[in-house]
Amino acid sequence: MRVLQISDTHLSPTKRHFAANWPALLAWATEQRPDLIIHTGDVSVDGADQEEDLAYCASIFRNLPAPVLSVPGNHDVGEAYHPHQPVDRARLERWRRHFGGDWWLRDVENWRLLGLNAMLFGSDLPDEEEQLAWLRKAMTDATGRRIAWFTHKPLFLEGPDEPDTGYWSVKPGPRKALLDLVREFDVALIATGHLHKSHDLRVDGCRYIWGPSAGFVVGPEMQPPMPGECRLGAVIYDFADSDVTATREDVPGLTTYWIDDVVHEVYPPRQAA
Ligand SMILES: [Fe+2]
Ligand SMILES: [Fe+2]
Repeated sequence: MRVLQISDTHLSPTKRHFAANWPALLAWATEQRPDLIIHTGDVSVDGADQEEDLAYCASIFRNLPAPVLSVPGNHDVGEAYHPHQPVDRARLERWRRHFGGDWWLRDVENWRLLGLNAMLFGSDLPDEEEQLAWLRKAMTDATGRRIAWFTHKPLFLEGPDEPDTGYWSVKPGPRKALLDLVREFDVALIATGHLHKSHDLRVDGCRYIWGPSAGFVVGPEMQPPMPGECRLGAVIYDFADSDVTATREDVPGLTTYWIDDVVHEVYPPRQAA
């Protein structure tokens, strides 16, 4: 059973700065003959404010060669306590309208794959508790299946005990609650996006994979030093019974755009007030 992880495509019908990478990703995905495709968020340039971005992404994802399950990123639904784009009811409903649920479950071989909305972590919305209760039940009911999470933000950059990394990973409070669940339920794999970097590490028996973006990379002026490789691509998972092989791949034909070159157009600074 072959699953592709794609991430951080940052597509829009109006801001087409990274659009040229979509046909290359589509062609590569088709060649892989996947059974399932998982998008780990930031599908859109600005779905958090532009509903047409979400509608557009949902429509072109129908061209992908397998069923697609997506989890939202900060650019799709906003993020907790953000001054301009807080995750809220209206933004979540927009996502759900175009992509269905923002958390989901899919059983594959002897695995239970769980998609999680990382933008709820630390949001204090009622949905945060609802998702956690659902997650606990889904893992309790997994009956011997190995567990994998797919979500946008990584739990940490360097290690589980690190301080707050700000924008880049889950805050220490919700991180601790999630890591307690990882240990309690022996979560085997956590696949994330958001960083636009490619990485594969094991910590305390769990494998953490950072799926690279298929849109753009981030230069050192905009991103602090952190592990991982600064390159575009995607990830292939081959699930067989209780095993998985995971390979981070280059995708032929992707152009390495740097967000630094176009950020003033794609994500212009907001005026105060
Ligand atoms: Fe992103
Ligand atoms: Fe992101």
